[in-house]
Amino acid sequence: MIEPASKQAIERAAALLRRGEVVAFPTETVYGLGADALNPRAAARIFAIKERPHFDPLIVHIGAAEQLAEVAADIPRAARELAAAHWPGPLTLVLAKRDIVPDIVSAGLPTVAVRVPAHPVALDLIAATGRPIAAPSANPFGYVSPTRAAHVAAQLGDRVPLILDGGPCRVGIESTIVSFAADSPTLLRHGVITQEAIEAQIGPVRVAAAGDAIAAPGQLPRHYSPATSLTLIDSPHELTPDLRSGAALLACAPVDDSAGFAAVRILSPTGDLEEAAAALFAAVRDIDELRPTHIYAVRIAPHGIGRAIMDRLRRAAAGRESGIESRES
Ligand code: TXA
Ligand code: MG
Repeated sequence: MIEPASKQAIERAAALLRRGEVVAFPTETVYGLGADALNPRAAARIFAIKERPHFDPLIVHIGAAEQLAEVAADIPRAARELAAAHWPGPLTLVLAKRDIVPDIVSAGLPTVAVRVPAHPVALDLIAATGRPIAAPSANPFGYVSPTRAAHVAAQLGDRVPLILDGGPCRVGIESTIVSFAADSPTLLRHGVITQEAIEAQIGPVRVAAAGDAIAAPGQLPRHYSPATSLTLIDSPHELTPDLRSGAALLACAPVDDSAGFAAVRILSPTGDLEEAAAALFAAVRDIDELRPTHIYAVRIAPHGIGRAIMDRLRRAAAGRESGIESRES
């Protein structure tokens, strides 16, 4: 059931979490499906509800950087600096875990992914629960992340007792993930905190390639997929009237030629990439519901936030352009 995130609703959600139940809640990036991060049986429910494979670890949400040492050990200076600069915010750090974090949360890895979300409802919920909250995005495994309470209800509504509605997510794509599991910091997932910003702060980072053994499953080639096939294009000029007929066009900025498509979605009228990122997943869902014959998405330059957007679009397209079905579809 969706409920506006009033103080009373947050209290009720916290009570459910303390009892080992699962609730959905807003963060600044996407909606999360939360459970008590220190309760393995509660965390197990997340995997069951999402139909998420147990090799895919969860992000642990804490209320403040000061709580980091409760779940993580051996925190390098660069990680502390990133936390100080970006928390609360859309940055997740992967660090050596403490024993208090159950193995199911870390999927058996010796590390734990942690972040402090920048959303008042998420922070109030963590405080009211008095526990860190493990939460992946609140979507069935492999589908686009939800950026509205209604997205969660549409897909998981019958499996989650409470969905706190905190309005649309401001950021709209998942957090940037930086891992300190290896000797040198590794960027596991692009987000609105850009690679450039991170490198300016802590120096060069390695970027995990899809298929890396350490890669997060969010890194699997096909993730965030809509039901409709999606192809990346450089420009709509490539498409004949035949191809356009019945198809949808998705672009970050206005295009000069959008005639003949069944639907056109421009994510930002000014080509602002933060605005485009915030609108991306909701637009993909909207288009998908129209059941077009195909989705054509216009590529953008892969730097800054453009990397994060291109990363999501490529994964949505993957396994289709090449005809190869990936492991998780
Ligand atoms: O913005 C976000 O990060 C959202 C909100 C709810 O906080 N959460 C989110 O969670 O996107 P999820 O589960 O959809 O993606 C988390 C990613 C997964 O790809 C997972 O494999 C990776 O984080 N991850 C978690 N723990 C890890 C670890 N110990 N080592 C490497 N990757 C890890
Ligand atoms: Mg996810």
